[in-house]
Amino acid sequence: MRGVVLAGGTGSRLWPITKGISKQLLPIYDKPLIHYSLGTLMLAGIREFLIITTSVDQPSFKRLLGNGEELGIEISFAVQENPEGLAQAFLIGEEFIAEERVALILGDNIFHGAGLGSQLNSFTEIVGAQIFAYAVSDPQSYGVVEFNSINEVISIEEKPEKPKSKYAIPGLYFYDNSVVEIAKQVRPSKRGELEISSINQEFLRRGTLKTTILERGTAWLDTGTFSTFHSAASYVQIIEARQGNKISCLEEIAWRNHWISDTQLVYLANQYKGNPYGEYIFKLLQN
Ligand code: TTP
Repeated sequence: MRGVVLAGGTGSRLWPITKGISKQLLPIYDKPLIHYSLGTLMLAGIREFLIITTSVDQPSFKRLLGNGEELGIEISFAVQENPEGLAQAFLIGEEFIAEERVALILGDNIFHGAGLGSQLNSFTEIVGAQIFAYAVSDPQSYGVVEFNSINEVISIEEKPEKPKSKYAIPGLYFYDNSVVEIAKQVRPSKRGELEISSINQEFLRRGTLKTTILERGTAWLDTGTFSTFHSAASYVQIIEARQGNKISCLEEIAWRNHWISDTQLVYLANQYKGNPYGEYIFKLLQN
């Protein structure tokens, strides 16, 4: 399975902050926002990535992440000229996805919770589509799933004025290769975007959409507004201070997945010498 991180967009709800820099490069406490989405897919066991950004921001992402070699992964980059919708990721990524299955994650979404890695690992052999549902207080801002009495999905609506449930669809989706052909059939919505909900509706119509409710013990944080951005940073700071474990430390995930050796971990830690992030990586070897 290949992974696509969608990290373009205008970030207009965070202007003026994001006028000069991509939202996904901003810090959420001790690391750039994109580390959280990339780390989530790495936890799922994915090693080949396409990172889609705006053209002006691409050099900064390349400077930050390189080609992934140091982490035992492969990262390539592509440009989305205009933010014309999430489903465009599959058109831009067609060549990268090739004949494989694909996971898409939004570069501004953060997932954290017990057992999340092993749960996500189980979706890498998906037939059809796997999406998630998460109870939120403001479902009208998201794609919303409606369930019947036996927990089957009966409808999906994008940003409905009157949501039929409290279950929003988080920005993490697993698909088999048919998603590429389905994405080609999607037409722009009233707001002019190629909607991911249109893709999910098609899998639903075909009877191959699986939806898992993320438990309330799992955190799904969206960072699109000033207040959610701030809350996400507080969440990471509080958990990390309390536990002494970092959320989405890419070096740690790569090492625990046995994609890099102890020697490589020390090499990476040395790049952050005299810095608490580097010390954290060093200490992993002593525990
Ligand atoms: P949004 O939060 O919907 O859009 P945005 O980031 O441009 O912000 P704003 O609404 O404040 O203008 O996007 C969610 C994520 O998806 C975010 O990481 C950016 C990314 N994205 C793209 O890369 N391309 C797109 O066409 C869209 C719509 C979003």
